[in-house]
Amino acid sequence: MKTTCKEKYPSVSTITQTEHIRIVKEIFSTVTKRYDFLNHFLSMRRDIAWRRFAVKKMHFLHTHRLLDVACGTADLALMAAARYPEINVTGIDFVQAMIDAGQKKINNKDLSVRIKLVRGDALSLPFNDNTFDVAGIAFGIRNIPDRISALEEMLRVIVPGGRIMVLEMTFSRNSILRKLYHTYLNRILPHLAKRFSMNAGAYYYLADSIMNFPAPDEFAQIMEEIGFEQVKKYRLTLGITYLHTGIKPGLPHPPGLQQLC
Ligand SMILES: C[S@@+](CC[C@H](N)C(=O)[O-])C[C@H]1O[C@@H](n2cnc3c(N)ncnc32)[C@H](O)[C@@H]1O
Repeated sequence: MKTTCKEKYPSVSTITQTEHIRIVKEIFSTVTKRYDFLNHFLSMRRDIAWRRFAVKKMHFLHTHRLLDVACGTADLALMAAARYPEINVTGIDFVQAMIDAGQKKINNKDLSVRIKLVRGDALSLPFNDNTFDVAGIAFGIRNIPDRISALEEMLRVIVPGGRIMVLEMTFSRNSILRKLYHTYLNRILPHLAKRFSMNAGAYYYLADSIMNFPAPDEFAQIMEEIGFEQVKKYRLTLGITYLHTGIKPGLPHPPGLQQLC
């Protein structure tokens, strides 16, 4: 993998899916060392609260297995394993450097028996149908140009009645917040990132990919069209991040599930 440091990448709205995937692989191979630190610092530790919110909404009723798609350094996997001691977690990512960083954290927490990381593509998950109670993706779907295929794959591998959790940053629809957020994303964030990261261009990409991601209502509709039921969206931190959840049609939910939501 080439590890160049770019000042800026072309906008995701102007490139092919193949080029987008190449850029994503390049970025996540070069930012790995500082990835966790910058995530926490640039989001003022909100990313931790957002993942925690998603983890709280998970339910493990049948297989007690979670799939963390585009797991990166395994933060979602680790948080879920800590909250639900009865579950096993599989994380999948196509960048080995991210997996290696995640594996170190898993080893440090002595969780390698319960959390397995594998290298693979979200567009072709190497798992049988109906394997997991929950499939989650945190800040990954924006980086997958063929997001419909990725969601279809997540639908395939969860059990009927199982759920997906999609945590993603979005561009606020409120005009004042939009201006402030635009300035933060495009002017402040890349300069901060430049001080700490080998690849400041990655943070221009971050801004660009957030601005080009579908609005929450549109994303919810995409999930419904794919076949998820009871699609819900949760607005987090003034709407700069949303959690979307959906259920795979099939088994009725056991009594009491609604109260847990
Ligand atoms: C912004 S990081 C998110 C990492 C982690 N989920 C988190 O919460 O911090 C996005 C991750 O998606 C991975 N990724 C993007 N497209 C992918 C694909 N098609 N298959 C597997 N991983 C992918 C990248 O390698 C990167 O590690």
